[in-house]
Amino acid sequence: TTTGIQVASVGDIEDGEGLRVPAATTGYGADIAVFHDGGAYFALDDTCSHGKASLAEGWVENGEVECPLHAARFCLKSGEPQCMPATLPVAAHRVEVRDDAIWVYPG
Ligand code: FES
Repeated sequence: TTTGIQVASVGDIEDGEGLRVPAATTGYGADIAVFHDGGAYFALDDTCSHGKASLAEGWVENGEVECPLHAARFCLKSGEPQCMPATLPVAAHRVEVRDDAIWVYPG
């Protein structure tokens, strides 16, 4: 089993926003973005599969995040691209909320 990492508290991420968690913090090999969408929390690799943009700075809506650079959208659950210009997925990570703490299980 993978080790979980407590990345934030529920109050740290507004609905519709993302939080970038640097690789140095988690020990995982890439930055992770944690998103809040209507009371649900999701985690994806932070770097867009199309360019160098941080998805944590994107727009979160309807189960998707829109890249701030060229507006590709990714499914928050699967990391699959929903439209051009992205054609490759970003990795999705399991998230659990326990006692107002947000845990991510990278990998
Ligand atoms: Fe994200 Fe181009 S960098 S769509």
